[in-house]
Amino acid sequence: MATLEIRDLHVSVDVENGTKEILKGVDLTVKQGETHAIMGPNGSGKSTLAYSIAGHPKYTITSGTVTLDGEDVLEMSVDERARAGMFLAMQYPVEVPGVSVSNFLRTSATALRGEAPKLRTWVKEVKSAMEQLQMDPTFAERNVNEGFSGGEKKRHEILQMELMKPKIAILDETDSGLDVDALRQVSDGVNRVRGTGEVGTLLITHYTRILRYIKPDFVHVFSAGRIVESGGPELADQLEAEGYEKYTKGGAAA
Ligand SMILES: Nc1ncnc2c1ncn2[C@@H]1O[C@H](COP(=O)(O)OP(=O)(O)O)[C@@H](O)[C@H]1O
Ligand SMILES: [Mg+2]
Repeated sequence: MATLEIRDLHVSVDVENGTKEILKGVDLTVKQGETHAIMGPNGSGKSTLAYSIAGHPKYTITSGTVTLDGEDVLEMSVDERARAGMFLAMQYPVEVPGVSVSNFLRTSATALRGEAPKLRTWVKEVKSAMEQLQMDPTFAERNVNEGFSGGEKKRHEILQMELMKPKIAILDETDSGLDVDALRQVSDGVNRVRGTGEVGTLLITHYTRILRYIKPDFVHVFSAGRIVESGGPELADQLEAEGYEKYTKGGAAA
């Protein structure tokens, strides 16, 4: 079983007059088959964690390690990260003008598998994944993220996740901007992939809403650039009832 290990991760960004440390020692282990929720107030550094693992050039790792089965993820190119089995869905996905969803998915699958998937089985695979997400077939011909609604962006992410079959998936604010129906379809998709037992999921979210549909095995509270508390699903219920105040007032609780 694949294991993602984050050890004492410190990350800074360049700001006008120097650098600012955003992540201040993150420790986390995610194993294939497990679902972890990272919850925390806005600005606590959750997206920074996702971007740092994805290799976004804006974020400088000043110390610490991220490994997948002992292999240094931070040394890998973005393509190598994908080939190693990492899937990263960002809070603000980019447009890819002139590239259709269908071509994008096939190119990604080719890069991942080392050879182009057989057209006949591939078309079937895509069609059935799209049907399960209740996506209109014409969606495949649209350009990636161009004019996509919030719900379409998120569905497209989950479609990618279903087709790419990653070992570790990091989903940042997958619930944001979704109405109840879209939230359910997206959650069903995540649960289908989870049901295979082959993916370790890091679900990053500000709101507890999505955790009614996707039940995490572990919940971590993120505050001021670190994990300040970890527990089981009951921790999410506690956060829903009490909010984050306890963690943000007068410094973070250990
Ligand atoms: N590229 C950046 N440049 C400057 N500041 C940043 C950048 N990215 C994040 N930050 C700052 O780091 C902090 C954490 O942001 P973020 O990781 O987006 O938090 P969250 O996802 O938990 O809301 C915020 O104060 C934010 O303004
Ligand atoms: Mg964020």
